[in-house]
Amino acid sequence: MTILITAGPTREAIDPVRYLTNRSSGKMGYALADAAAQKGHRVILVSGPTEIDVPDGIDFIPTESAADMYQAVEYWIGKADIAIFAAAVADYRPALIAEQKIKKSGDTLTLELVRNPDILGSARSTFEFNGVLVGFAAETEDVEENALGKLERKGCDLVVANDVSRKDIGFDSNENEILLVYPDRIVPLEKATKEHLGHLLIERIIRLKNAS
Ligand code: C5P
Repeated sequence: MTILITAGPTREAIDPVRYLTNRSSGKMGYALADAAAQKGHRVILVSGPTEIDVPDGIDFIPTESAADMYQAVEYWIGKADIAIFAAAVADYRPALIAEQKIKKSGDTLTLELVRNPDILGSARSTFEFNGVLVGFAAETEDVEENALGKLERKGCDLVVANDVSRKDIGFDSNENEILLVYPDRIVPLEKATKEHLGHLLIERIIRLKNAS
């Protein structure tokens, strides 16, 4: 099977030397890519900037901004049977990218931000993707309720939810504790390494594809 995975943070340029980003390490997305490749699947990994070595045997598509990632997904998703969106995509970007480094002047500086395209939200509609669609939900409150809302709004078959307000799991951690939110049921998985969860998730997602 061909599996498209988005991973890592995005970088939204402010000027030639500065950008907005977030705390995503890319570990969960890369663990999924590794697990899928080990099972012999073709993996297309669309990744924002991370410190992680690219796993062997995958097609690696490096991207920086949310707009880059959107374009890469738009191009590649038609080749995929399964799409897993594990990237932490910035919701907003600076309205203008200054051509020169911004000089300090007054005591305050206001940046105007504009909405980025919702890549996962475009999968079913704009990209007309009809394979198995998996989203991630990083929440700090009402985890189940927010994940269910996301599942419905974005036409996902599964949303993988975690609580990013906890220090011991989630962003930049090697471990995670997740809830699998399906349209008809919620399955909690025990806290485990992202590597182990990568294998469990790929197994369950392949099962969804085979049942569809
Ligand atoms: O709505 P929220 O950003 O919390 O949704 C998270 C899910 O949506 C993740 O799967 C993430 O990869 C995806 N996403 C996206 N494009 C965005 C924002 C989020 O693909 N612009």
